[in-house]
Amino acid sequence: MDRKRSSLETALHAALASRDERWIRRRLPDPNTALLTDFTSNDYLSLSNSSVLRSHFLAKLSEAPDVLGSGGSRLLVNGKAHAALEARLADFFRADTALLFNSGFDANVGFFSCVPQPGDVIVYDEYIHASVHDGLRSSRIAKDARFSFAHNSMPELRRLLFRLRDERVGLRSGESSLFLSVESLYSMDGTFAPLREIADLLDEVFPHKNGYLVVDEAHATGIYGPQGRGCVALLGLEDRVLARLHTFGKALAATGAVIVTTTLIRDYLLNYARSLIYTTSLNYANIVAADCSFDMLADGTAQHLSNHLLSLSSYFTETLSPLLESRNIPPTLVSLPLHLQPSSLALTLPSPIIPVLTPHPRPLSAFLLALGMNARPITWPTVPKGKDRVRVCLHAGNTKDDIDRLISGIIKWAEDTLKVRNKETRPGILTGRSSQDSVDGNIASKL
Ligand SMILES: Cc1ncc(COP(=O)(O)O)c(C=O)c1O
Repeated sequence: MDRKRSSLETALHAALASRDERWIRRRLPDPNTALLTDFTSNDYLSLSNSSVLRSHFLAKLSEAPDVLGSGGSRLLVNGKAHAALEARLADFFRADTALLFNSGFDANVGFFSCVPQPGDVIVYDEYIHASVHDGLRSSRIAKDARFSFAHNSMPELRRLLFRLRDERVGLRSGESSLFLSVESLYSMDGTFAPLREIADLLDEVFPHKNGYLVVDEAHATGIYGPQGRGCVALLGLEDRVLARLHTFGKALAATGAVIVTTTLIRDYLLNYARSLIYTTSLNYANIVAADCSFDMLADGTAQHLSNHLLSLSSYFTETLSPLLESRNIPPTLVSLPLHLQPSSLALTLPSPIIPVLTPHPRPLSAFLLALGMNARPITWPTVPKGKDRVRVCLHAGNTKDDIDRLISGIIKWAEDTLKVRNKETRPGILTGRSSQDSVDGNIASKL
């Protein structure tokens, strides 16, 4: 006889069932995707497949005095390799100091949970990463002192900063501080924060220099700026940013992260950032891996890969946009966001992240999967309601032929969908699950 569900089990089942009903239940993707063309991972420079990096890593690893474990928290065992990598990265990123974290998530949680002081104010872009939210939740910043602004909206940010300064004596006098948290390249939209305008605005609103910019370069590291040092370096804003986060897990094909900042902030983090203090630090093999990836940045290899990556991105958007129009695909079915419309392209840098907006991301993703391409559907709550998409992530290892196949797959799906819609005969195709399941089944048998 079946055991009666405990109240805990009932609650957990109900929550998952509710997510199922709303089509937002998260599941791990199929691990057998190696044969598919990768339009999903954050391995932007395809360094994880680089035979050069692999041999370099194995050679360095075989010579390294320590490779296993790390022995404990940095505060307990400060590995020579860890200290050496930090010194290298402070120099590379033209910063006073650098501090390693086990991940970008830990770094954001560590920074935002402790650096802002009681009475300070936080302002963040509405699309800021979840790790910043988690840090703020455990910070000493009251809820009513945390403010978001519409994504990349300079007019709204300007109004908000002036209002906060006018309302709060401490901000006016310089006795309290305002932290402004942005990402240089946003992971869901592939949009860039207008960093120079933001830095200028902070200077204008806070002449006492108590407005601090914190930039998360997770998705820009390795791709933009001289030697892939990021967008802050690209714009020469190093001295106007309090702290920059660079992660190793995306374009650098490693794992871990570094915050580059002032000596004082580093010392403070060492004393108060719980996500750094109460955890075993990165193991030595990780440190060697990250060091090798930075060798590829320093010697110009990454720049070469990045140039190719960004040329693929331009090719993709410049080809898809006019095709959508000439094939009469309605924007309500498939479109590119405003910043990737032909009229805006000249104003923005190409990015490896391209959201293909559609209210039916699952069927489109399933269709592409059946053609051997892996581009994941992204829906609420990861993106705002009404902004569902298939997020295309391009890689230096993609070829122009891959991009052509992707474009024709998108167009073919849209045309097929329109035909079905016109005939109104196969209602299942737009609702997703049945087509997703059958396509997954087809793919599984090919792998
Ligand atoms: C903008 C941003 N910041 C931080 C992180 C966290 O970095 P990590 O994957 O190293 O934990 C991510 C990863 O998803 C990210 O997209």
